[in-house]
Amino acid sequence: MAVSVLFVCLGNICRSPAAEAIALRLAPEYPEVGKIDSAGIGNWHVGDPPDPRMIRAAAGFGLDLRPLRGRQVERADFHEFDLIVAMDAENLADLRDLRPTTARAKVVPMANWTGRDVPDPYSGGPEGFDRVLVLLEAGVRALFDAIRSGEAP
Ligand code: 4NP
Repeated sequence: MAVSVLFVCLGNICRSPAAEAIALRLAPEYPEVGKIDSAGIGNWHVGDPPDPRMIRAAAGFGLDLRPLRGRQVERADFHEFDLIVAMDAENLADLRDLRPTTARAKVVPMANWTGRDVPDPYSGGPEGFDRVLVLLEAGVRALFDAIRSGEAP
């Protein structure tokens, strides 16, 4: 069975939608990867498109984030996805608190494949958005290679 992946950040308007779009672009190369989605720990941006600064930065990477809409992580996600990938240590701690003990999903840090937390660009300058995209381009491919080789989940 293909491995389903949910990317999670705080607001679901900057980092995790970028990860989702990068993953969707790579997916045709990886039949081992199944459903791909993203969500936020918080509910502030439910129904919103990604942050305009991330939409702009992502366009420079050939990604169109405009159709994506924010949603909050929900209990069902822990039963529907194989892998829930946290963008930073705070997201990881929150997800581990939320995870039901009977969950199917394994909760893992994106840092396993990026080598470091994916920094929250929300309150910083425009260069932070590009930095996130560079980290995620390499990190999502490394994650998918790990799924292919059976190292993940
Ligand atoms: P994200 O960035 O977690 O990468 O989507 C943020 C977006 C919104 C907020 C914080 C971080 N916020 O506080 O509304």
